[in-house]
This record gives sequence, structure tokens and C-alpha cells, in this order.
Amino acid sequence: MRSRAIAIITFLVVTVLYFSGCSESHEINDTVKNEIRSAAKGFMTELKGVLVANMKSGGPVKAISVCADTAQELTKNYAEKVKLNLRRVSLKARNPKDKPDEFEKEILMKFDEMKLNGELTPQTEIFKIEKVNGNKAIRFMKPIVTKSVCLNCHGDDNHVKPEVRKLITEKYPNDAARNYKEGDVRGAISIVKFID
Ligand code: HEC
Repeated sequence: MRSRAIAIITFLVVTVLYFSGCSESHEINDTVKNEIRSAAKGFMTELKGVLVANMKSGGPVKAISVCADTAQELTKNYAEKVKLNLRRVSLKARNPKDKPDEFEKEILMKFDEMKLNGELTPQTEIFKIEKVNGNKAIRFMKPIVTKSVCLNCHGDDNHVKPEVRKLITEKYPNDAARNYKEGDVRGAISIVKFID
């Protein structure tokens, strides 16, 4: 009788521990996921809008000057608006501020591997609960894929005009964001949302 009671109690304790552990590390509710996804989408749309408008009105030379001055500003303002920690990161960054942390580096390498294996889709995304500077946070990343228009400024020398290359080198002496091909993972959008 006693051993049966102990067995039942043990079972209950283990079950409770298992499920509380689960909800802590795996369960992020859909409302929060959608809030993060739509922030990422809205940000990319806004940034692309600025890029396309400037490419149309003055080609890559004008777009580069605008991009270089506004990309960080626009990112900062957008992050404040949606109250999320949001930025773009890349393994081969143009702006040193876009260099990834350890977690981001690992995921970016995973995205590259998925691309190589033909597993990358428009739905590809990562959600994870992690400690960031000692605080619990939801981390989200989504790949940013290179399109043909991007090659004007991120492609090889056949695609980047000499005057554009010159401007980029002046503004970003340590630029690594070159020689990309269409379909490559250019980087990712990375969002951190601190919880409780
Ligand atoms: C007119 C030139 C130009 C075009 C076209 C362009 N970019 Fe960029 N890109 C830049 C510049 C300049 C930066 C650095 C911005 C900064 O200082 O924050 C940059 C930065 C980035 C970054 C942030 C990581 C890093 O390297 O610093 C990503 C991601 C990115 N571009 C993706 C793209 C994609 C995807 C496209 C096509 C849809 C594209 N870019 C088209 C000029 C361009």
C-alpha cells in the first residue's frame, strides 16, 4: 500500500516538473509569436520601401548615401515603436554594428546550411527562449534572402558599379557584405523580447 502511494506521488511530482519545464522552455503562445512576426514583417516592408524609392529616383549611388545614413536610424525608431529589441545581423556584415552575437551566429550558420540543403522556405524562422544578459527572453530570427536588386550593392564586381564600390569602401572600410549571389542568405532579422 505504502509503496503504491509513493509510486503515485513520484509520478505526480515528475509529471508536474516535466510540464512546468516544458512550458518554460518550449511554449511561446501564438499571440506573442504573431506580434513578433508582424513586427519583423512591418520593419522589412518599411526598409524595403525606402530602398526601392531611392533606387528608382537616383540609382544605387543615391540609395547608398540614404541607406548608409538611415538604415540604423530607421531600425532604432522602428524598434522603439514596437517596443522590441530589433536589428539586422549578418555573418558578413557591412556595418560593424550588425555583427551577430553567439546565438545569432549559430542560427545564421544554420540558415546557410539549410540553404545549401534546399531546406530554406519563406516560412523559415526560429523561436527560442534564452537568457540574454542574465534575463529571460524570447529570441526570434528570420532569414533575409538576397534578391537580384541587392546585387547592385552586395554582389560581385560584375554587379556593383565602380562608383558604388568606391562609396561603399569610403563609408565602410571593413565591409564584408560583398560577392553575394541571388538566393544567398544575406543575413537575418533578429528580435529579442524580454519576458517577466
Ligand atoms: C543601394 C545599395 C544597397 C542595396 C541595393 C542593398 N543594400 Fe543592403 N546594405 C547597404 C548598406 C549601405 C548597408 C549598411 C547599412 C548600415 O550602415 O546600417 C546594408 C546593410 C544590409 C544588411 C545589414 C547587415 C550588414 O551587412 O550590415 C542587410 C541584411 C542587407 N543590407 C540586406 C540587403 C538586401 C536583402 C537587399 C536587397 C533587397 C539589399 N540589402 C540591397 C546597401 C544596399
